[in-house]
Parts: sequence; C-alpha cells; structure tokens
Amino acid sequence: MTTQEEQTRSGLRFPTGFTFGAATSAYQIEGAVAEDGRGTSIWDTFARTPGKILNGHNADVANDHYHRFREDVAIMADLGLTAYRFSVSWPRIQPTGSGKVNQKGLDFYKRLTDELRAHDIDPWLTLYHWDLPQELEDKGGWPNRDIAYCFADYAATVHEAMKDHVHTFSTVNEPWCAAFLGYASGEHAPGRREPENAIRGAHHLNLAHGLAVQAMGARRVGGCVNLYAISPETDSPEDLDAARRIDGLQNRFFLDALLLGRYPEDVLADVPGDTDFIQPGDLKIINAPIDVLLVNYYSRFTVSGAPGGRQSAAAAPTDAGSPWVGSEHVSFANGGRPVTAMGWEIDEGGLVEVLTRVARDYPPIAMVVSENGAAFDDVIEDGRVHDGQRQAYVEAHLGACKAAIEAGVPLEGYFAWSLMDNFEWAWGYGKRFGLVHVDFDTQERLLKDSALWYSEIIRQNRTHE
Ligand code: NOJ
Repeated sequence: MTTQEEQTRSGLRFPTGFTFGAATSAYQIEGAVAEDGRGTSIWDTFARTPGKILNGHNADVANDHYHRFREDVAIMADLGLTAYRFSVSWPRIQPTGSGKVNQKGLDFYKRLTDELRAHDIDPWLTLYHWDLPQELEDKGGWPNRDIAYCFADYAATVHEAMKDHVHTFSTVNEPWCAAFLGYASGEHAPGRREPENAIRGAHHLNLAHGLAVQAMGARRVGGCVNLYAISPETDSPEDLDAARRIDGLQNRFFLDALLLGRYPEDVLADVPGDTDFIQPGDLKIINAPIDVLLVNYYSRFTVSGAPGGRQSAAAAPTDAGSPWVGSEHVSFANGGRPVTAMGWEIDEGGLVEVLTRVARDYPPIAMVVSENGAAFDDVIEDGRVHDGQRQAYVEAHLGACKAAIEAGVPLEGYFAWSLMDNFEWAWGYGKRFGLVHVDFDTQERLLKDSALWYSEIIRQNRTHE
C-alpha cells in the first residue's frame, strides 16, 4: 500500500459502532411480481403503460432477488456490511392494500432477515418505498386521506410479524418523491399531473408516517427524508426567493413537520388554494417521537428565479427538483460541478451542509445517511468494473460524514445506494447505481472496484474497533 493510500484510509476512520451498510428497495430488485399471492402495485401498472419507462423496461424479474436473496446476503457478508436497508413490498403483505394479510409475503421477509442475522448483518426495514397497492390508487391514491390510515394498519401488521427479526423500522422513503414525482410531474407512478393533489399527497404521506409510528408502539423507528443542498444562482432577490421556495418544499416541508410539528408558514403561503386537508391534530401525530432520522443525499441544486428561467446549460434534475413550487419562474441552473450519469452535480460539501443544518436547526436527533451513491456508465473490462468515479464519489461523501461527525453531528451510519445495479424507476435498467454489477440477462453478480474498496474501508474500521 502506498503512503497516500494509507493516509486516505486512516482518514476514513469512524467511531466504534458506526454502521456501514448498503440499501435497496423491493420493487427495484425483487422481481417475482406474480408469486406467492403478491398483489399489483402502482409501479406494475405504470411500467406497463407505454412510454413511461425508458426502453419499455419493467421490474417483473429485476434482480430476481426474491429467489436469489441468499446469494445476495452472501455478497453483503463478503463485503463486511454491518447493516442492510431494504423495503417491504406492501402488495406482498396486503395484496389489495387493506384487510386480508398474505402470510407468504411476511414469510419471505422472515427468511430474508433470518439470513441477514445469521451473517451478523443488521436488517433495516423500510415500510414504503413507493410501491402502493393498485387498489389504493384506484381509491384516489395518496391525495385520499384514508390511505394514511391503511398505511398505519399495514405498518402495525408488519411490525407485529417482524419485531423479533428487525431492530430498526422506518416508514416512508423520500416522501417528496412519492408525492411530487408521482402526482405533480408524473415521471413516477401513478403518473398523475395534478400539482394541488401532490401537496395534499405530501401531507398524507407525512400523516401516514406519524400514524405508523404510533401504530408500531415501542420500537426503534425512523422517518426518511431526501435532503438537498440548495444555492441561489446569484444573490438577486429572484434567485434568493427561488432558493427559499425550493428549500421550503423539498427540505423544510418534511423536516419541520416531522421534527417540529409544524409546516413552514412561507411554504403554506405559496400553496394555491386552501390547505384545509391539514386537519387539527395532524401535525401532532406527524411529530410523534422518532429514534433516528434517515437522510438520503445525492446532490446540490443551484436555482434561479429569473423571469423566463435561465435554465443555463444544465440538464434539469429528474429524480430531483421540484416540478411545482407554488410559482413559475424557478429553474435549475448549472452550478458548474462535475455530474454523474443522471446529470446530478457532485457536491460532498452539500452533505456536510444538510447534516449540520439538521443538527443545528432541529431538536437533537440521531441520524444516518440512508442513501448516497452515483450512477455512472460502467463497463466490464478484463472481467472487472473499474468504477473509479463511483469510488471517488463514495470516498468523498464518507469524508463528508466524517467531517459532520467532527463538527458534532450525531451521525451513526452510512448506507451506500445501492448494493447492486437495479431497476432505476423511469430509467429502467439504463442507470447503474450498484457497488455490485448485475448482468440482467444472466443475473450474474460481479463486485465492482468500488465494492472492493468499500469493503476494505469497513474491514479497516472493524479491525480498529
Ligand atoms: C432515491 C430512491 O430512494 C431510490 O429508489 C433511487 O433508486 C435513488 N434515489 C437513485 O435515484
């Protein structure tokens, strides 16, 4: 090892007990969509709708993880992961979203978590990663308040069945995306373009979180948010106001509700129409005490509020950026940083910024980075994937985690997104985020260089515990 490598590695020394994980979600990897009584989700329907997913892909098979989970857990064990964050498919547990429970669905997650624990990997269970049962969408989806109560019932069912298998439960993954990409921009399932229903849906997703926390009783539970660092393009009043609005809807709408029990006044003031869907007592429920905040972080947005929108040369973010911010004239500008294959600007400083902001502006709460990673156009050369850019991305962001800890942030872990290449929503299999390469024709898994590097970081940290 060169001296430089030694320095880099020792620079990534974390406190004893720091969690080193990787994350996935049910629809993106499981496949087996018609097996063992699973019902249909909005993503099954969306993927069958022509023109919605790049190249007409769907996740009927995906990574075939439903059948190959033992092989995948063995890979996690080889990597030395101390934790694995996965999600439960609601339509496997309640095929129609309410009522009758499908035992075979629960059994799958019991087998999975038994296997994880047999390898000393701590299972982190997410209840909702966007695969709403289709019947609930047929009843109006997230803009319908009743869905939040269905979710609480589902959460209680999963918690009761899994509480001896799982230590940490989390509720809704990235509620911003579920609401605004699903119901405003329509890029995600169910593909509706009804901005006023998106904010209603966002509130009901928050309410679902709070009701589920209550329904699960005494347990370790977390809420998940996707936070972005946000900069105005210039310090003109228009750009500053655009930054305020994006930050308001993207970050504060969720953080303030979960951690302070209120919505930001300025965001509510921007909402056209009334907000009577926010009922008395809702925010107290949403503010139910949680044990850990799960923060997904990918990028910084530079925003402009110039009339007409400058849009600079940058690609507008896709799985990012607000399609509706209570006003026109907001555009995403080029911040001048290198980008990933998603066109997302790379800025590890933004991760330090969002973590320290939560620690500074909100009541004390333990945090983990529950997703962080990058898509690049990987190629296999000589039987290897030399994904130096992904390794550099993860290394820089782990450095940011360390800097945040040194600045006093109670950060307890890091989960790379993703364990393996998978179905990247509207991009199908066209974008690869994995530490592990997957050949979707043969289902062969291959550890990329970034995986080998991450595994070494974990090993070094464990050796020094
Ligand atoms: C966040 C989402 O939770 C995950 O499902 C997605 O694949 C990654 N971002 C990358 O876009």
